[in-house]
Amino acid sequence: MVKHLLTGKEFDRSAVERLFDLAASLKSGRGKPGAPKPLAEKSIGMIFAKSSTRTRVSFEVGIHELGGQPVFLDEGKTQMGRGESVPDTARVLSRYLHGIVIRTFEQKEVEGLAENGSIPVINALTNEFHPCQALTDLFTIYEKTGKFDGVKMTYLGDGASNMANSLMQVSKIAGIHFEICAPAEFRPDAAIMAEKLGTGTVNWSTDPANALRDADFIYTDVWVSMGFEKEAADRLRILKPYQLNWQRLAMAKPDVKVMHCLPAHRGEEITDDVMDSTHAIVFDEAENRLHVQKAIMMTLMGD
Ligand code: CP
Ligand code: NVA
Repeated sequence: MVKHLLTGKEFDRSAVERLFDLAASLKSGRGKPGAPKPLAEKSIGMIFAKSSTRTRVSFEVGIHELGGQPVFLDEGKTQMGRGESVPDTARVLSRYLHGIVIRTFEQKEVEGLAENGSIPVINALTNEFHPCQALTDLFTIYEKTGKFDGVKMTYLGDGASNMANSLMQVSKIAGIHFEICAPAEFRPDAAIMAEKLGTGTVNWSTDPANALRDADFIYTDVWVSMGFEKEAADRLRILKPYQLNWQRLAMAKPDVKVMHCLPAHRGEEITDDVMDSTHAIVFDEAENRLHVQKAIMMTLMGD
């Protein structure tokens, strides 16, 4: 029985399928009579140490729609920001709350809350992983194609990012081919690439033309993730040849779909013409965060 979502590996292929069935029914039943309220009388803490638009709003709205009460905590304004330990915080919050959603820098903070508390913990982004986004992206791929087998997704850009890590894991679990096209300086994590998780395959390459051939989906993310601002100048220079522009789009299948977790830095990792084209499904991905996260919370925190 899955209790936490710390990396994304907690859900195997059949658990992912159950999660997506639930997300699809929550999506079609949203706002209709009989919509489930499994978080009634429950309060879910939302600890955020980094900025957010989509994650914060979709979790707050989702908790409300499931009948619960979101309790937003700006980490810097809590006693954690003044040095109270993660284990003590976990023990205290477990006495009040029924679950925790956390966005922070260090993965070990998320894992420390889970180890020392007694309530489910959901990783809402760390430097290493962004499982809520990656699972939502898989759901969106399934919604568009009705399958995972035979699907090729090519990721262009920072292959060492939290999104690349999480997409590697969920792609293997679901069974799609995930091609990461990134320069050597931002190559994907070798240990995550080597993990045996399912039937999907992951490959790293550096030449966009080869990587994009026959791609059904192209994915990109910002070149300067939150927490890496000091490296901005080097990152922008090294990653420039990996921009998702019209020339690169034309290297993939004619009906290729373009994905981005957002926020986009238009003119850097993606150009306006691609972002605003009919190939882009980025706002469907953003909407689906709500439905998939409701399904995650129902699975982990509902009775
Ligand atoms: N994609 C995503 O997590 O967006 P936010 O940073 O706005 O939450
Ligand atoms: N890789 C990005 C994702 C933002 C949702 C970051 O960590 O800033």
